[in-house]
Amino acid sequence: MIQSGNGEGIITNDGAPLLNKIEVGHPAAKMLVELSKSQDSEAGDGTTSVVVIAGALLGATQNLMAKGIHPTVIAESFSAAAIEAEKILEQVAIPIDLSDRESLIKAATTSLASKVVYQNASLLAPIAVDSVLKVIDPSMPDQVDLRNIKIVQKLGGTLDDCELVEGLVFPQKAVHAASGPTSVKNAKIALIQFCLSPPKTDIENSVVISDYTQMDRVLKEERQYQLELVKKIQKTGCNVLLVQKSILRDALTDLSKHFLAKCKIMCVSDIERDEIEFIAKTLGCLPVASPDALKPEKLGSAELVQEVSENAGSAKLIKITGVPKPCRTCSILVRGSNKLMLEEADRSIHDALCVIRCLVKKKFLIAGGGAPEIQVSQKLTEHSKSLSGIESYCLRAFAEALEVVPLTLAENAGLHPITMVTELRNRHLNGETSAGINVKKGCISNMVTENVLQPLLVSTSAINLAAECVKMLLKIDDLVLGSMHFLST
Ligand SMILES: Nc1ncnc2c1ncn2[C@@H]1O[C@H](COP(=O)(O)OP(=O)(O)OP(=O)(O)O)[C@@H](O)[C@H]1O
Ligand SMILES: [Mg+2]
Repeated sequence: MIQSGNGEGIITNDGAPLLNKIEVGHPAAKMLVELSKSQDSEAGDGTTSVVVIAGALLGATQNLMAKGIHPTVIAESFSAAAIEAEKILEQVAIPIDLSDRESLIKAATTSLASKVVYQNASLLAPIAVDSVLKVIDPSMPDQVDLRNIKIVQKLGGTLDDCELVEGLVFPQKAVHAASGPTSVKNAKIALIQFCLSPPKTDIENSVVISDYTQMDRVLKEERQYQLELVKKIQKTGCNVLLVQKSILRDALTDLSKHFLAKCKIMCVSDIERDEIEFIAKTLGCLPVASPDALKPEKLGSAELVQEVSENAGSAKLIKITGVPKPCRTCSILVRGSNKLMLEEADRSIHDALCVIRCLVKKKFLIAGGGAPEIQVSQKLTEHSKSLSGIESYCLRAFAEALEVVPLTLAENAGLHPITMVTELRNRHLNGETSAGINVKKGCISNMVTENVLQPLLVSTSAINLAAECVKMLLKIDDLVLGSMHFLST
């Protein structure tokens, strides 16, 4: 739990947001924060591991430098080691097929294992898998654009109520005025970006009304203007109206809401500007920026638009389902009892989505629980024997540093780190490439049969990025304070 200066708190177990929120001053520490961020954008998971590995590698370099080895030599050996590590991991990777839903769910569950929301992993992991599989574009089978999956947070209920919605979810209520409809079948949906309220004068102008007949005329005009707009909308056959939030004036007035209700048009207001693209893509409609551009062909369609409340009395939200096929977007509705929990659930689901995206990009899994790191460590040590001199020494230091991951896992599981890692090392020596730390039973076991699987890309990118960051730090000779300009008064 991190408390920021303004009193706001966040609860998280995700490396990148955690480091992002911590205020660090030292430029080298900032590089580690950046490192975590780059792992986040590259793989989305493993953002803690990458920093832990980088820390261990930095420790190793310190020892090497104390022995008089030049930083450039260390940097070169480390980059060779990282390349070798990737090869070793590829050898133990298990190829998977995207139709193998079970394996994908296992990988998503592993990424949720260390999160606050782990209790609900059996619900969240399939949601993550199904939503990513749904948005894969057949013309680009190796890529997933996670912008096509919208996570909607709604306070109330518990995490058990999370669900995948094939369509749209809005956390707000429908406009309730003059008892307009709140549920529409065979909806024709218009997405408008203009306001249904009388136009305002520019900033500098003012309208002076000196007697009541003029006042009356203005009111009539305004009424007429709004009525015409609503009629125009009705003429297109629209029966559900989505209105973008406006910063200039009220997007809807009481009068226009009344007219809409009379025309039996359901209305959802306060749509954010950045949601427009997603909505248009999902419903197959085009956003309309001016009343004149509103044409029937710009409308989208859906089988059902409904204001629902899961339990009697709980907060209402709007669901649009039965959207035109093939729909390449989906929404994940996240429920939670408080805001901190909701946000953490959002981040955890995002991690799980990223894991599946990694598997779509590179269709290989590897065992988790420290197995890959120990495997790399062992093979690198073997490889170092074929080299000579300083390079061999540096490679061994790199290999040893990687043991930090199983050491940390054992420690966090309340086990004795040295005993565990020694046994793990022996098992790997005997050819058990999938042996890892079983944190639940407190022993070493086969991680594949324990279903602890993670994408290859997460591990390779963590080792590569950590090595890269350490190399960059090694290139720095000294820290010099730059000039500071103080305002002299
Ligand atoms: N059930 C499990 N048993 C043993 N090890 C596990 C299990 N689940 C996950 N792990 C291991 O835990 C590590 C991941 O921990 P965690 O998810 O907390 O950090 P991260 O993935 O590095 O970063 P983040 O998820 O914060 O971006 C991986 O090494 C993974 O193999
Ligand atoms: Mg993780």
